[in-house]
Amino acid sequence: MGHEIQYLLETKRLVWLVALVFAVLMVLQYFEFPYGDVVSSLFSASKAQIVNVNGSYQLEASTQRPQIFEDITHSYALNASYDSNPTLEENVDGAFSPMAAVVLAPTKSPDIELPNTVNATLTDSTIVLEHETSKPDASKLFQDFKESQEKTIHSDDKASANEAHSMRDVVTISDMHDMLAQNRASSRSMKPRWSSLADQELLDAKLQIENAPINENDPALNPSLYVNISRFKRSYELMEKTLKVYIYNEGEKPIFHQPTAVLKGIYASEGWFMKHMKESQHFVTKNPKEAHLFYIPFSSRMLEVKLYVPDSHSHKNLEEYMKNFLDLIIGKYKFWNRTDGSDHFFVACHDWAPAITEKYMNSCIRAMCNSDIKKEGFELGKDVALPETLISSAKNPLRQFGGLPVSQRSNLAFFAGRMHGNLRQILLQHWQNKDPDMKIFGKLPKSKHNNVYIEYMKSSKYCICAKGYEVNSPRVVEAIFYECVPVIISDNFVPPFFEVLNWESFAVFVKEKDIPNLKNILLSISDSKYLVMQKRVKQVQQHFLWHVKPVKYDIFHMILHSIWYNKVFRINPR
Ligand SMILES: *[C@@H]1O[C@H](CO)[C@@H](O)[C@H](O)[C@H]1NC(C)=O
Ligand SMILES: *[C@@H]1O[C@H](CO)[C@@H](O)[C@H](O)[C@H]1NC(C)=O
Ligand SMILES: *[C@@H]1O[C@H](CO)[C@@H](O)[C@H](O)[C@H]1NC(C)=O
Repeated sequence: MGHEIQYLLETKRLVWLVALVFAVLMVLQYFEFPYGDVVSSLFSASKAQIVNVNGSYQLEASTQRPQIFEDITHSYALNASYDSNPTLEENVDGAFSPMAAVVLAPTKSPDIELPNTVNATLTDSTIVLEHETSKPDASKLFQDFKESQEKTIHSDDKASANEAHSMRDVVTISDMHDMLAQNRASSRSMKPRWSSLADQELLDAKLQIENAPINENDPALNPSLYVNISRFKRSYELMEKTLKVYIYNEGEKPIFHQPTAVLKGIYASEGWFMKHMKESQHFVTKNPKEAHLFYIPFSSRMLEVKLYVPDSHSHKNLEEYMKNFLDLIIGKYKFWNRTDGSDHFFVACHDWAPAITEKYMNSCIRAMCNSDIKKEGFELGKDVALPETLISSAKNPLRQFGGLPVSQRSNLAFFAGRMHGNLRQILLQHWQNKDPDMKIFGKLPKSKHNNVYIEYMKSSKYCICAKGYEVNSPRVVEAIFYECVPVIISDNFVPPFFEVLNWESFAVFVKEKDIPNLKNILLSISDSKYLVMQKRVKQVQQHFLWHVKPVKYDIFHMILHSIWYNKVFRINPR
């Protein structure tokens, strides 16, 4: 009798579980997720099985995460820059049609115990689907308005899955420094299959950097801005003296080899880097045998523009495109095989870059704007946080550079932007129209050259850089550009040039959960401390500027330096 009741109860549980999974699938289908494969991928790719273990039913998931969740976890959030001739506003917060947000909050049934990853993804995450109701004219600007698809399937990583958990799991800047040190001590590239002179030179550079003489008296570099100024200086000098980069000639335009396609807008970092790298007489070598690094010259933005199929909600084909390129160079040359790609690198600013490169290109040094310590395998000490820069004029990337002196900065804090992601909504709920010192807005009305936005940046003490769908935002570099102290609200964001810059000396980091306290946090910083920080912002500016012709310590050299620095510290010669 007791047995039967137990059996019935368990059967009931199983039915509940199946019903729940089915319901979720139906909803996903309804909203046109990568359908077709939904059912089969959930059950075949994941090899999920319902099994009877010791008399109780469980859903047994393989260690691999079910495909459907992989796909959902990728944020389809597209940054706004659908105009091929973008104005600033359109890039920062382009004018889009209203969106209907559908929030699917998975129901939790206490009766259901789901083991493994299915547990984490199904019960804990909030799937937010933003559904646009109208689109820009499709006949115009075909390539660029894909961003306006704006369909976001936003399911956060495990961190935000569980509220209590996510608070504990925020990785602070000092945690990140610890992680970097740990990674440096424990993780190396693979031992090359055969030795090269370049390995010896890298090893030699490593020893010289580790034993750098104390060198803190450079008028161009304030030691407070750096993790270790002596090491940075030594490393930079050695890079200038030693580094040789080989650039593959393979790959078709415009996805490869066409920097001019991406010199404007919010992805401009990858275009400018490619331009300067290809034009560099100093660092480029035609002889791959003497190269320390191999550059894969593609644009993640053009990959999306050319290959993303609107409404497909999948970037599998983009991933495959890059895999085909890899297969080509792996078959044709020996360089990749020598180290399984660990001396290869790319520079990519699109939000999707981490996801697209996670599977086949993860052994490379990945320089990416979307630098989330908790997502898509971003590895401190190997991967590089690429600054996201918004460029409005390809002829004059320094247009409107600078800001007002501190005495004329009348606003305590400024933010404006479109409601990408939940965090900005929370920010506005707490601070929009609440306090005259806090200039916190949604999207600002259009103005010529985005002047209203820029004037606020130039005349505020603190500029709030709140994350959007992803951790990165062009505001961090904009704040520095306009001499406003950046206030970064983006848990788990690895700031650019993390290896060398002492970010906490010139920027404020506020945890997402502390938004209600934002004003108090800013007011608790004394005037004298603020003055010091603002001065440092001006001193650090040189590292974030694109010049038509690169100059020493500029952003081009700093990106290349971070890639070099990581390579040097991971060297593992034969
Ligand atoms: C699944 O979630 C339940 C309830 O939240 C928890 O008790 C259980 O330990 C979890 N299982 C795994 C394998 O994480
Ligand atoms: C910086 O690095 C050098 C060389 O390794 C070392 O001698 C020095 O103590 C370091 N300075 C600080 C402040 O850690
Ligand atoms: C590199 O290795 C792969 C697989 O190990 C092999 O198929 C390929 O031919 C190798 N490339 C060269 C140029 O030897």
